[in-house]
Amino acid sequence: MGSCKDQGQHHKDEAGCVRVHGPIIVGAGPSGLATSACLTHQGVPSLILEKSDCIASLWQHRTYDRLKLHLPKQFCELPLLGFPENFPKYPTKHQFISFLESYASHFSIQPRFKQAVQSAEFDHVLGFWRVKTKDCEYISRWLIVATGENAEPVIPDISGIDKFKGPVVHTSLYKSGSEFKNQRVLVIGCGNSGMEVSLDLCRYNAIPHMVVRNTVHVLPREMFGLSTFGIAMVLLKWFPLRLVDKFLLLVANFTLGNTDQIGLRRPKTGPIELKNVTGKTPVLDVGALSQIKSGKIKVMEGVKEITRNGAKFMDGQEKEIDSIILATGYKSNVPTWLKGCDVFTKDGMPKTPFPNGWKAEKGLYTVGFTRRGLLGTASDAFKIAGDIAEQWRTIKDCNNNSCNSHVILLKET
Ligand SMILES: Cc1cc2nc3c(=O)[nH]c(=O)nc-3n(C[C@H](O)[C@H](O)[C@H](O)COP(=O)(O)OP(=O)(O)OC[C@H]3O[C@@H](n4cnc5c(N)ncnc54)[C@H](O)[C@@H]3O)c2cc1C
Ligand SMILES: NC(=O)c1ccc[n+]([C@@H]2O[C@H](COP(=O)([O-])OP(=O)(O)OC[C@H]3O[C@@H](n4cnc5c(N)ncnc54)[C@H](OP(=O)(O)O)[C@@H]3O)[C@@H](O)[C@H]2O)c1
Repeated sequence: MGSCKDQGQHHKDEAGCVRVHGPIIVGAGPSGLATSACLTHQGVPSLILEKSDCIASLWQHRTYDRLKLHLPKQFCELPLLGFPENFPKYPTKHQFISFLESYASHFSIQPRFKQAVQSAEFDHVLGFWRVKTKDCEYISRWLIVATGENAEPVIPDISGIDKFKGPVVHTSLYKSGSEFKNQRVLVIGCGNSGMEVSLDLCRYNAIPHMVVRNTVHVLPREMFGLSTFGIAMVLLKWFPLRLVDKFLLLVANFTLGNTDQIGLRRPKTGPIELKNVTGKTPVLDVGALSQIKSGKIKVMEGVKEITRNGAKFMDGQEKEIDSIILATGYKSNVPTWLKGCDVFTKDGMPKTPFPNGWKAEKGLYTVGFTRRGLLGTASDAFKIAGDIAEQWRTIKDCNNNSCNSHVILLKET
């Protein structure tokens, strides 16, 4: 795999480029797999280039052991193939990975692994995308960006952190609290990762100090025995967003109590509106809140400075710390490799917002950048496959009718 010699159905030309029949998809996570499956279903071949050595590398290599899907399984399915019936309501990450493996094999998806895309640029003369990895150049009329919203960890520059004597790890490398038994651990960040890692640390008798520098919405994972997300989705069909937010907060305050009193101040904007406007995900509580209430997870204000042995906080407190976990989130990596087009922001998100961000110009598509998790992926994948299939059939018909303009057609956008 990855060598220019073994090109399967794709053709290597005289200049040493691999001409890909159908689109090139960058990334073999759920989004890349879903799009490839939908294309296959429409009779369009595709080629996935993946930088890692496996599919779903985020899930396989960069998530902790106890991770479960946050949303009920019906909101996390990929197109055309459901989860096995025996899956629980909230599948574990191992179940999710095994599903993705069978999904790939069901649709005969065989990504090229260890093919980190270093650059992709539209060649205006040829009318093709040129996609370069370390050892090969691939060309296609279509390029599908599926590298994810969470491609790289965010590592903030925190004053003094280089002087700290203990380990500093990002949550993408955290596996389990067993490595932190009985330690005082500073968890920086209080998104879903910060909360769940803090909870996991409690299970191993560690003492998490979780840094909450800002406001945060915490919602129960379920309300009245139904998933909060599911309730919100149904209500949004009938009621305005702000009313739905008010309802969610009313129930959240009733079931969780006033989170302001335990150091988790709520933003003024409601949870769904905030997600839509800023992309900030509300925390769905799976047990961390009760550990905060019981004092096992200590909520700290922003960090002023890290010292050799601990941390100084904005409110003047100082604590000795054994390890630091950065639960500071992730970012897209698209700006590092997609060149010469104006489709993405400097943060690597499509400039055109959901639901129209999936299609750009000159055969460029994006999947999985909707800030709507796997549900957004499924919606993008269907639309992309439909759109490309239409063009594919036109080209094929023309070739069958001996238009003798294969190249010219490929150039048209
Ligand atoms: C801890 C955690 C838990 C989550 N839980 C949920 C959940 O329960 N439900 C939900 O809907 N969402 C969840 N998400 C969001 C999650 O990221 C997505 O739902 C899902 O993984 C997105 O799939 P994707 O294929 O778009 O991106 P990814 O899964 O990130 O896959 C992108 C792929 O692209 C590859 N890649 C990146 N750059 C390059 C390059 N230059 N060249 C080649 N390949 C490249 C990567 O190696 C990776 O395999 C979670 C995220 C995290 C971090
Ligand atoms: N079970 C699950 O399904 C599950 C589990 C974990 C994660 N996820 C998903 O994965 C995605 C990423 O979640 P995440 O929690 O890793 O990231 P996140 O939601 O982006 O949260 C990052 C946190 O780090 C804080 N932060 C960043 N820089 C900081 C700094 N310099 N000092 C102090 N705090 C700092 C942020 O605070 P500010 O708000 O102040 O910036 C925020 O609290 C989300 O979509 C999430 O829902 C899902």
